[in-house]
Amino acid sequence: MGTTVNGRHGSTTGKETAGGGAGRRPGEHAAPRGGARLTGVRKTYGAGDTEVHALDGVDLELAPGSFTVVLGPSGSGKTTLLNVIGGIEQATAGSIEVAGQEISGRSPVDLAGFRRDHVGFVFQFFNLVPTLTARENVEIIVELTGVGDARRVPDLLAEVGLADRADHFPAQLSGGQQQRVAIARALATDPDLLLADEPTGALDLTTGRQILGALLELHRAGRTVVVVTHNASVAQIADTVVTVVDGKVQSVERNAEPAAAEAVSW
Ligand SMILES: Nc1ncnc2c1ncn2[C@@H]1O[C@H](COP(=O)(O)OP(=O)(O)OP(=O)(O)O)[C@@H](O)[C@H]1O
Ligand SMILES: [Mg+2]
Repeated sequence: MGTTVNGRHGSTTGKETAGGGAGRRPGEHAAPRGGARLTGVRKTYGAGDTEVHALDGVDLELAPGSFTVVLGPSGSGKTTLLNVIGGIEQATAGSIEVAGQEISGRSPVDLAGFRRDHVGFVFQFFNLVPTLTARENVEIIVELTGVGDARRVPDLLAEVGLADRADHFPAQLSGGQQQRVAIARALATDPDLLLADEPTGALDLTTGRQILGALLELHRAGRTVVVVTHNASVAQIADTVVTVVDGKVQSVERNAEPAAAEAVSW
């Protein structure tokens, strides 16, 4: 994998693992993890008259530890891009290297293992289990995947600012709090990459800023974070801004001085 974007990352020892700001000063970044390199990636749905080229020859490099925002019109291929990077979907053609591993052409079982070991997903609608508490919604991932440590779950909830809500059910939490549970859940396996598809799409501005702030914090902990959004204002917090149009990368902009989450509006 190439060097980090803007040289802003990798200021600590590289021994740090999960989340936590332990030992870092504000603004200081942990050793970068993850990263992705896509070469000639295509994703085609259907065949013949109904063929759709959701991704139509994508070349893209996301540095380990970078914070990328993906913009583009509805139907341009943003979600498909996120899903092939995260191994939710297999590309039709091309090479996809994530966290230093080639994942194109792998079997579904192999991809499941890759996701479990390297990727956390956050979606627009938080997809929490309504009959489980915040703590249990995170613990279940540790149980299902066999990765991570259930004893760390309270720390994960504290990391996203929910230490005092661990025993609440989703219906007893605000939208932003539910999304933070979803982020804690995505962190349960200590992923190298955190991929978020419209994570603020169902939230008001204040709550959305809190969620973006939480994602920035996880980026400072060294993770590669990719946020898909319709909202161009979110781009200012990213170090890398990718615009997708008609299944192609139209532009990749590097932002030398990303703004804080408070700068975002909608
Ligand atoms: N499972 C599928 N079967 C067939 N076509 C699909 C499938 N998933 C996506 N597509 C098509 O691929 C194209 C890209 O879809 P994608 O969901 O990636 O867009 P998007 O940029 O995320 O859009 P939005 O902003 O509305 O979420 C669209 O034309 C869509 O209809
Ligand atoms: Mg989408």
